[in-house]
Amino acid sequence: MCGIIGCFKKEGCYDTLLTLLHRLEYRGYDSAGIAVLSSGRKTLTVRKRKGGVSGIEGRRIAGETGIGHTRWATHGAPSDRNAHPHVCGKFALVHNGIIENYLSLKEELVRGGAEVASDTDSEVIVRLIEKVYTGDFFAAVAAACKRLQGSYAIAVLCKDAPGEIVCAKYKSPLVAGASDDALYVCSDIPALCGEAEYICTANDGEFIRIKDSKIVFCDEDGAEISKVFERVSPVLRAEKPQQGSFMEQEIREIPRALAETYVGLKGLDFAVCARELRQTKRLFAVACGTAYHAALAFKDAVERDSKIPVLCHTASEFRYRKPLVCQGDVVVAVSQSGETADTLEAVRLAKNCGAYVIAVTNIEHSSITGLADFSIVMRAGPEIAVAATKSYNCQLLCLYYLAAQLYFYKNAQMPAYYSQLCLLPEAARAAFDTFIPMRILAEKCKSARGMYFLGRDRDVRTAAEGALKVKEIAYVFAEGYAAGELKHGTIALIEEGFPVIMIATNSALTGKCENALEEVRARGAYTVLFTQDEGAMSKSCADFKCLLPSVCEELMPVISVIPLQYFACRMCIERGYDPDKPRNLAKSVTVE
Ligand code: G6P
Repeated sequence: MCGIIGCFKKEGCYDTLLTLLHRLEYRGYDSAGIAVLSSGRKTLTVRKRKGGVSGIEGRRIAGETGIGHTRWATHGAPSDRNAHPHVCGKFALVHNGIIENYLSLKEELVRGGAEVASDTDSEVIVRLIEKVYTGDFFAAVAAACKRLQGSYAIAVLCKDAPGEIVCAKYKSPLVAGASDDALYVCSDIPALCGEAEYICTANDGEFIRIKDSKIVFCDEDGAEISKVFERVSPVLRAEKPQQGSFMEQEIREIPRALAETYVGLKGLDFAVCARELRQTKRLFAVACGTAYHAALAFKDAVERDSKIPVLCHTASEFRYRKPLVCQGDVVVAVSQSGETADTLEAVRLAKNCGAYVIAVTNIEHSSITGLADFSIVMRAGPEIAVAATKSYNCQLLCLYYLAAQLYFYKNAQMPAYYSQLCLLPEAARAAFDTFIPMRILAEKCKSARGMYFLGRDRDVRTAAEGALKVKEIAYVFAEGYAAGELKHGTIALIEEGFPVIMIATNSALTGKCENALEEVRARGAYTVLFTQDEGAMSKSCADFKCLLPSVCEELMPVISVIPLQYFACRMCIERGYDPDKPRNLAKSVTVE
């Protein structure tokens, strides 16, 4: 969701604030703002505006200490007045999270004579701080935090305390960073890469204080907590593409991302979790969005090969459903960012129930890896575009690898597909041959009001992911569906020219897929077939056919999704939108 930053730099923090805000923009781009405190003149300058970070660029603001924010609106529409930082008296504050009791706090503040200036939940925090302030900046922030319910990562400036930033964290991510010439706080590890050399993440209930050119972690009473800073991996840094979108660039990075992830997997010692994998009688998998589709693909692989049930839940449901998780269960949490609030809560719940948690994430020091018993950190590299692409392919690789390990610990041998995993990067590169046909297909489909993605067996997951991509960035209603279910409802919506995209990579089922295509074609649908089977392709009635590169069928989901990712990207561009900044979405959903 929102991105927050704080920076102390003796030479002036303005440029760094903007650099970091640009990097954080993928967390929210409704509005942006900064506040800069200059020690000499004790001035607090605030610049905030509806729209992207470029909207607040302008004359350099002098000052060593600053905070910044990119907003993804939760309370109150995107507007100048709802943009952060929020200011009250001597204080300026940026916030990521949701204050669940903000209405009662607001009422109390209004009763006390406060004139509330925005519709946000965040503003109450800065007003509370101002209300309890008696000269001790830190104590005022700590006292205000005691009144808050919900989630927050905040960074606060006080005119009386030049050179100081006080931050607090509860259930929203916050990390501190240090380099030779600057100190930072940030909601995002990847954004700090390239600026900070060392980082340290805050735990819930901890405060970070930048003061006297030092970073100190402390508890609510101000007592110092000893923490270890770790060197940050430069691999997390993302460069803006020379041309085109981050999304297209990230799709083109899939072969490299898969190759690096594979090397990482080979170096990982799964023996650490051998006992749990050997003994478990069932697994759970929890995730959101694209990661949930990867979790479903994992379920398919484990149930097919190891014959162990995998109960797959969207994390938002899992956490409120009182799932039957207990000691002895293995819970696999899949999350690119490692910060998704629902997935994080699902992990906490699983841990509290005594389960063994395996995390599959892209971010090494994320909150989810911090909680998990064992982490598989893929090496997709930074993913900036909101719609996940290369991280999905890498999640699938990691999960198939994990499924193979599970099989190994149960059967003392690897499944047949294991030796083929190394071929995925090359096959992914071969899938780029589909990009020209995908451009043509996107051109043909650009005016569609809706479309279906169909498949059978493991291709249902790919269909669901293809549909999600089209919804997310091209704003076309799309459903990913099991082809066999077509006759039980969805076929009613087929009309002249309605695109129906069939993914058929399971040779045992291509005939059945073809039947479904015939049925919708007879009703006027514009039919599209994706398969690696040349025979099936030549026989097919489909209006548009696309040959996929071939890898062993169990691994086809890693490859067959690539043209769909690219198709969605092209649909988005054809329809005149920016693939990197889909409306209403945020990359890292750190609030419920
Ligand atoms: C958001 C993003 C999706 C992503 C989902 C889960 O909804 O827009 O692209 O799949 O979060 O994110 P995670 O970081 O947990 O994989």
